[in-house]
Amino acid sequence: MKILVTGGNGYIGSHTVIQLINAGYEIVIVDNLCNSKIEALSRVENIVNTKIKFHKVDLLNKEKLNQIFEDEKVDAVIHFAGLKAVGESVEIPLHYYNNNVVGTLNLLEVMKNNKVSKLVFSSSATVYGDPHTVPILENFPLSATNPYGRSKLMIEEILRDLYKSDNNWDIAILRYFNPVGAHESGKIGEDPNGIPNNLMPFITQVAVGKRESLAVFGNDYPTVDGTGVRDYIHVVDLAAGHLKALEKLVKNPGCVEYNLGTGNGYSVLQVIDAFKKVSGKEIAYSIVDRRAGDIAACYADPKFAKEELGWEAKYGIDKMCEDSWRWQSQNPDGYE
Ligand code: NAD
Ligand code: UD1
Repeated sequence: MKILVTGGNGYIGSHTVIQLINAGYEIVIVDNLCNSKIEALSRVENIVNTKIKFHKVDLLNKEKLNQIFEDEKVDAVIHFAGLKAVGESVEIPLHYYNNNVVGTLNLLEVMKNNKVSKLVFSSSATVYGDPHTVPILENFPLSATNPYGRSKLMIEEILRDLYKSDNNWDIAILRYFNPVGAHESGKIGEDPNGIPNNLMPFITQVAVGKRESLAVFGNDYPTVDGTGVRDYIHVVDLAAGHLKALEKLVKNPGCVEYNLGTGNGYSVLQVIDAFKKVSGKEIAYSIVDRRAGDIAACYADPKFAKEELGWEAKYGIDKMCEDSWRWQSQNPDGYE
């Protein structure tokens, strides 16, 4: 089976491509490198010991995208490509809507023209907004609080409408919780531009000496120790979920949403503790005000994915910290 992977050079895409190749899938990557380095591709090729077909193409370039589909004759698409920084999406919303929503519309039209009807889409737990209760089930109400989240929600709605209009489509909407960790080799991992927005890369950069101290955003939430609770999931587990979703699409399930999380929530202070334990590094931190838009607790009920996809997360918080730290300590400046 031949799979076109948009955004396949990014953090989650690169980890997924490794597993796809190891499972015998033929791969074509389409990525414009707006948020990834070509070095990541070389590292992936080194890990799987194979040359990978790569097109440096923007999803906004519909003609080029269509040409790739005509040439490659793929059977399914995994669609990772998108911009993902919440703060930036508030500052430049049109750019986010254009890249994420219009990019996806182009992809869907090109897929339709080329009779490709199987799609795995990267959605996010952000579509649950501020959940009324946790753990979160797939049928909880959906909402968004920022342009990034709204772009994911819009795309989800577009996909559901598309399926309603034509039942030949098979679409797995994967709602990721908080991806962390890295490939066990330490060769690939998350390489944020500038100051990291997310917790784990910030912690690893403090540990490696690139940042002085972590700002913990609030300790007055109604949680175990007052700091925010999230469902961190190892990127290797997350990648495995995409292979299970592809296997499901072959059985014509229609358009279905799945939570990909572990079902366990950890507070910021618990993550710092786990990280200290596995790395032996002290993490300097101070408590500051809450970050606007943050919620107290967010974790998945992952049982639907287990029942329907036969997928569940294997790795716990210690392994997530251990692999994040191996990547950061072996590559203090990421792919630079
Ligand atoms: P990433 O930025 O590392 O990877 C995305 C890739 O898509 C990058 O290589 C980028 O160059 C490429 N890309 C972006 N816009 C493109 C375009 N118009 N044309 C071609 N390529 C384009 O991000 P990631 O963490 O691997 O996330 C992958 C997907 O998962 C994204 O859609 C993201 O919104 C979603 N997601 C990520 C997280 C997370 O915390 N990492 C959580 C939930 C959902
Ligand atoms: C963020 C995004 C969300 C996205 C998710 C995964 C926001 C408001 N939300 O969510 O849309 O889907 O990433 O990419 O940006 N924390 C600190 N100090 C830091 C960084 C984070 O205390 O420097 C805390 C946060 O308050 C939160 C937890 O750590 O409680 C996790 O934060 P983060 O990694 O940014 O993920 P989310 O807030 O879940």
